[in-house]
Amino acid sequence: MRSILVVNSKGGCGKTTVATNLAGYYAARGKSVALVDYDPQESSIDWLANRSPERAPITGISASKEQVRVPRDTDYVIMDSPAALHGRTLADMVRRADTILMPILPSPIDVRAAKNFLAEVNKLRKVVNADVRFATIANRVRENTLAANDLNEYLDALKLPSGKKLPVLASLRASQNYIRAAEKGLSIFEFAPVKTLPDRDQWARIFRWISHAGKSKVVRDKVVRDKAA
Ligand SMILES: Nc1ncnc2c1ncn2[C@@H]1O[C@H](COP(=O)(O)OP(=O)(O)O)[C@@H](O)[C@H]1O
Ligand SMILES: [Mg+2]
Repeated sequence: MRSILVVNSKGGCGKTTVATNLAGYYAARGKSVALVDYDPQESSIDWLANRSPERAPITGISASKEQVRVPRDTDYVIMDSPAALHGRTLADMVRRADTILMPILPSPIDVRAAKNFLAEVNKLRKVVNADVRFATIANRVRENTLAANDLNEYLDALKLPSGKKLPVLASLRASQNYIRAAEKGLSIFEFAPVKTLPDRDQWARIFRWISHAGKSKVVRDKVVRDKAA
């Protein structure tokens, strides 16, 4: 069983988007998936409610309402989290995860906040779960707001207190595909490939990294250069 936690203390950076797309991707590939929504706003649970029963099933668990009991045969537990997550609640979630993904919007304010949060997660990780791997994802990257090149430089300049660079696994473009998918309870991987090819390409490295469990704990590569949507 793999358990993937999607976190960032900032709202609106793409946690639910990343969590639901992960869930839809693995479900569509025949995996048994549980989507655990720790956010009382229940966006992931709402997403699931819009999902057609003809689609690959996903077990939804609303952690703010019920006890988290994941079916025994689950392949992937995807945990969506609320904004402003800190302290003990964050520690509990980090303890449950083997993988942490942190979406970040490519604005200077968001990157700075992410740096602080990343440092908090990094510290926690050493105390509660030294084996957990984590990486970040730049989300809603638009060429005309902050060029991919500038983003690289920006992220490069931001270092953790340890001196490590902010690890960036992938860069997802701003795309209507995510908005359409969100409305229908789908992942972008359940649309016709021809319509979502650039997005799928951007995710390929995320899935590769997730499947390479136990290799490197932190991805230090630079953000991938992308064309805008
Ligand atoms: N790459 C993207 N392209 C276009 N819209 C996006 C993208 N990522 C997120 N969104 C939209 O931005 C809004 C906030 O994203 P969401 O995943 O709900 O953030 P969070 O869960 O961190 O609050 C949603 O309406 C979502 O559909
Ligand atoms: Mg959310």
